[in-house]
Amino acid sequence: MKTRKITKAVFPVAGMGTRFLPATKSIPKEIMTLVDRPLIQYAIDEARAAGITEFIFVTSRGKSALEDYFDVAPELESRLRDAGKKELLEVLKDTNMDSGAIAYVRQNRPLGLGHAVWCARRLIGDEPFAVLLPDDVIAAEKPCLQQMVEAYAQTGGNMVATMEVAPERVSAYGVLDVADDMGDIVRAKGMVEKPKADEAPSNLAVIGRYILSPRVLNNLNDIKQGAGGEIQLTDAIAKEIGGEESVYGFRFRGQRYDCGSKAGFLQATVAFGLAREDLQAEFADYLHDLLAQQKAAQ
Ligand code: UTP
Repeated sequence: MKTRKITKAVFPVAGMGTRFLPATKSIPKEIMTLVDRPLIQYAIDEARAAGITEFIFVTSRGKSALEDYFDVAPELESRLRDAGKKELLEVLKDTNMDSGAIAYVRQNRPLGLGHAVWCARRLIGDEPFAVLLPDDVIAAEKPCLQQMVEAYAQTGGNMVATMEVAPERVSAYGVLDVADDMGDIVRAKGMVEKPKADEAPSNLAVIGRYILSPRVLNNLNDIKQGAGGEIQLTDAIAKEIGGEESVYGFRFRGQRYDCGSKAGFLQATVAFGLAREDLQAEFADYLHDLLAQQKAAQ
């Protein structure tokens, strides 16, 4: 199938992050640190690996730390250069964005994820685009969005990353109603946002990686005009089902951490800490001793 190359990605970061209050009173959630890098850096690296060259952030008040993070830091860089700290200068390189590669658009009110994506419509234009939610961090041999871009080259249409969740957890997610199950790829015949456990059409949950047709932006337009309250991205994608362009779920290979929740963030911290060669030995010993102490105390 002939599909257009995906070069633009939207990063909706305008949410209030209430689950991390009081920290998020003054720090954007996406700047919170997993080992030594902010959440947003993981998402950017994943997008770059998938061939993304234009990065669109949907921000809100109080997110200026994010803009500064991707800017150059002349004073810091010259100090590191003078001190001969080449390795640290290399580390900083990943945080720099070429002029013009990054764009910011404001969502004035937190009306939901669908509304946040809609705010980026003029920057996206008439081409397929990716959406990455930085609080979903995915550890994978091949980065998740890259896996999706490869699968999308076969399917076209719309693609959402999906994973099986326990039945009692489905009500926290958008859930797919499956028409055809082709293994890694499933074709959806429906999509429901946060269904009750006994009403969920499957246990295939949608997580924060999407490749979407620009038609979804038009759908968001209609939803915006038609409904009040939160504007759900799921509803706008679901409108494509049965139309010209199908909706596919992609079972990615990797481990997803919900860093929008405290438990998920802690799990990610442990997993990413243990995966780091420079920390592994000391950290593993510490965890081992801690668990032994806890067991002894029981
Ligand atoms: P969440 O549902 O995690 O909401 O949003 P939140 O505000 O970030 O966090 P809590 O629930 O209050 O703790 C999922 C993603 O959608 C973005 C968020 O920034 C996050 O990346 N989002 C959500 C927006 O950009 N705008 C919105 O109006 C809502």
